[in-house]
Amino acid sequence: MKESTGEIIEQGQINVQPDFIYPYIIRVLDKSDLMAVMQLQIHVTADIKREELYVPISEEEMRYILTGNGEALGVFIQDRMYAACALLFNVDDDMNMARELNFSNDELEQVAQLELSLVDPVLRGAKLQHKMAEALARREEARQTRKYLFSTSSPYNYASIQTLTALGLQIVRLCKMYYDWDRYVMYKEFAEPTQLDTANSVSIPNTAFAEQQQWLDKGYRGYSLFQDNEGIKIVFAPKL
Ligand SMILES: CC(C)(COP(=O)(O)OP(=O)(O)OC[C@H]1O[C@@H](n2cnc3c(N)ncnc32)[C@H](O)[C@@H]1OP(=O)(O)O)[C@@H](O)C(=O)NCCC(=O)NCCS
Repeated sequence: MKESTGEIIEQGQINVQPDFIYPYIIRVLDKSDLMAVMQLQIHVTADIKREELYVPISEEEMRYILTGNGEALGVFIQDRMYAACALLFNVDDDMNMARELNFSNDELEQVAQLELSLVDPVLRGAKLQHKMAEALARREEARQTRKYLFSTSSPYNYASIQTLTALGLQIVRLCKMYYDWDRYVMYKEFAEPTQLDTANSVSIPNTAFAEQQQWLDKGYRGYSLFQDNEGIKIVFAPKL
């Protein structure tokens, strides 16, 4: 295993299984980490129950991110990668999620996108996606080169919607993307996040697409979610 020079942005201790606590590091990935990301993706996707939860990244797209067009982080225990997350800031036009919102050409150039998150099942539930995505968003904001942070999520991906809404991304559109799969388009503006009137919130089942669409059409945005005995509910509120 080569010694990486990637910047370490966090280190700590994590429970891998009950009673097993290991030291971990989160560091910036470089192109020598490409194959480890692709192997992690194969390992994680083998365990996914519902194919449409996750759109696989190609080796070519991941290489593009790792060679100066984005930034990626990995969680390592004893030199093995257990989790990864990637942000793209040089976004090709046809890949730009803001096209779904009819952004102008100037605005499209101001977009950064969270592209993938992978956490090995043995480390699930430790908020590693949140740790990595939050760090990537903070570092992107500090660079001050992009105005908007976008991502997409399946309405069925509880963990991802939780992470993205916790970072302040709001659901603004529900549409078909990728292989004709249902997707929320989510974003925030770094400098001037849209304020919502959360006192007037409505909670809609994540599967009630027609009802969600009606609230989106009225200008409401999704900003949170919870799970009760009926299933997952997405919380929408109007703009202030
Ligand atoms: C999405 C993913 C990265 C989140 O992993 P994580 O950081 O360990 O998740 P969190 O610790 O934030 O978990 C948040 C909640 O979701 C639950 N959760 C996490 N992963 C889950 C999964 N695969 N299925 C069901 N629930 C899951 C957790 O139990 C937790 O629930 P709680 O808030 O009620 O306690 C991970 O599940 C994964 O790799 N999934 C496959 C790939 C994928 O879908 N990536 C996202 C799209 S790019």
